[in-house]
Amino acid sequence: MDRKTAQERIARLRSDIRHHDYLYYVKDQPTVSDAAYDKLYRELVKLEEQFPDLVSADSPTQRVAGQPLTSFPTIEHAAPMLSLDSDQDEATLRRFDERLRKGLAAAGTSDVEYVLEPKLDGLSVELVYRDGVLQHAATRGDGRRGEGITANVRTILSVPLRLREPAAGERPVPPFVAVRGEVIMHTEVFDQLNERLIAEGNEPFANPRNAAAGAVRQLDPQMTAARPLDLYAYDILASEGVEVATQWEVLEALRGWGLRVSDLVERTETLDGILAYHKGIEEKRDDLGFEIDGIVIKLNDLAARETLGWTSRHPRWAFAFKFPPRKEITRILSILPSVGRTGVVTPVAIMLPVEIGGVTVARATLHNREEVARKDVREGDRVRVQRAGDVIPQVIERIEEPERAPEDRAPAWTMPAVCPSCSTPLVERGPFTVCPNSFECPAQLAGRIVHFASRNALDIEGLGDETAKMFVAQGLVHQLPELFDLKAEQLVHLEGFAEKSANNLIAALAKASHPELQRFLYGLGIPEVGVSVARDLARHFGTFAALRGADEAGLQEVPGVGPRMAEQITAFFREPKNAEVLDALLTKLQLVETAPAVPSDSPAAAVLPLAGKKIVFTGGLTRLSRREAQELAERLGARATGSVSKSTDWVVVGEDAGSKADDARKLGVAILDEDGYLALVREHGVEI
Ligand code: IVH
Repeated sequence: MDRKTAQERIARLRSDIRHHDYLYYVKDQPTVSDAAYDKLYRELVKLEEQFPDLVSADSPTQRVAGQPLTSFPTIEHAAPMLSLDSDQDEATLRRFDERLRKGLAAAGTSDVEYVLEPKLDGLSVELVYRDGVLQHAATRGDGRRGEGITANVRTILSVPLRLREPAAGERPVPPFVAVRGEVIMHTEVFDQLNERLIAEGNEPFANPRNAAAGAVRQLDPQMTAARPLDLYAYDILASEGVEVATQWEVLEALRGWGLRVSDLVERTETLDGILAYHKGIEEKRDDLGFEIDGIVIKLNDLAARETLGWTSRHPRWAFAFKFPPRKEITRILSILPSVGRTGVVTPVAIMLPVEIGGVTVARATLHNREEVARKDVREGDRVRVQRAGDVIPQVIERIEEPERAPEDRAPAWTMPAVCPSCSTPLVERGPFTVCPNSFECPAQLAGRIVHFASRNALDIEGLGDETAKMFVAQGLVHQLPELFDLKAEQLVHLEGFAEKSANNLIAALAKASHPELQRFLYGLGIPEVGVSVARDLARHFGTFAALRGADEAGLQEVPGVGPRMAEQITAFFREPKNAEVLDALLTKLQLVETAPAVPSDSPAAAVLPLAGKKIVFTGGLTRLSRREAQELAERLGARATGSVSKSTDWVVVGEDAGSKADDARKLGVAILDEDGYLALVREHGVEI
């Protein structure tokens, strides 16, 4: 065959195969037999082999392509990927509806129409198409930037590599569109995957969402392809040349371009309509073949959405009405104490495995010894277990068994006197029981390693629970810094490791050795310092040295840091053993430090209009999030502080403000409401 004929035939084959893929994977309505499809596919493969220069990235043969990556690139989203306000309470839904209607009425609109969609329990991703061709795909990440997982998303057969040319009268494929959707794993695939993992001696995934996340984060797209995923599209994040006025039209457009859109979507104008839909979907929930955790209610009219706006994290025009968590009954086989990274010993119920919402649960937390006593839960008892989203399943109550004589029950469970990991005598702290051997207890060290390596900390791929325990048990790591001295040769002989995985982990450690300050801080596991406090501390102090040297008063200048937290932080740094570990750690790592948001003592800050001013925010703001309000202040050179004193310049009082507003009045500090604050900011040249 000559080149020109081959080119034409290839184009024809691709177009036919795409069409059959669409009918099969998106519409679930194939029109040709598998054999007929395979024939077309094989012909295309053969021609592309003969004419390799005619292979293009959007060819159906190129779904699983490219070399494994060593890391995922960071990708900025076309528009922020916000999350939804959510609740399972009907009262909260009613408030959402009321507030929305009020907001629209104020803008002169009384028509309200909602689009109702199932809330898929997967992973939110962005797909970017240019001239109809899939350019890249990214995870949600922090909402602004995510990880580029293009090669992996390409393996999802319901994701078109090229958007479908719509029929006449439908919306044309635009030059640019960024689509948001949810990657999910069907329960059937999930069950098979877990069976395989168990058979291979690996840990199964707790739920399909985690399994989908695991599949999407494989560095080798072959591995993703071996764990088939699906994608439902539900939003256009940004676009050029797309004319849509409503969410309903958005869904139609997405469908028209060959993306999979749920066919369970509906419209309603009333709260009763929402409630009926919620009930109906919940009844169908177990028959869908994938997990959903509620419904999403969205205002249909896109222009009307603009009048309602957003808080920093949630649009005010949408709401996720969740389903109540699932509960099942099973029997406790034993109760084992488990030592966490902070030394807290948690009683864990080992149970007869039970399926809760498609997931097999065999362990559940009993929180602490007082909970065990209060619930009077003992080994051998029948109990009700709850699983909600990805949280650890919990034992919620004991089921009475009147037919069983009380003396047949096991004796009441008690905490052991010594740590199950290091045999140090345990101490009681309120309802909690703690192993005080913070620095030498192997279980605590393993827990600290896992935390340090976790997603929001140094994000070290391949360093999970089992691996950390093994490193500690084998004496490879006696303290966190030693992690960075590990060599591939030491790992290859360990159970579960081979040359490749050993090299990968060493590479991941090397990659993680330049952490951003906030990730490092979070990873240290300082009591009370979660992701957002770590971020605020990093922003405020800029460098680790500045934070480490801060006293309690200095720490309390950070909004959201109260006396208790300040004390915990200084105590952490004062502890000589922590200081020793930190010093060693700092020789292994190069922290990525940024200047504080406003280095208030720098000469540059002095020229800002509000330089040296202190502002305290209290109560809820309606048009700005607290963070946005603080950022505005900082941009003008002011400092947002946590407590009101005589030196405070303004207290901005929002809804339901508490004692800080009273303090301001007592001290005679100027009080602004939200409008007043916005006026102040505008007056100084910030446009909002
Ligand atoms: S809309 C601004 N629609 O639920 C609108 N989200 O926080 C944002 N989700 O992160 C999302 N099904 O991962 C939307 N039909 C649906 C959804 C959906 C599932 C997820 C999404 C989002 C989370 C809500």
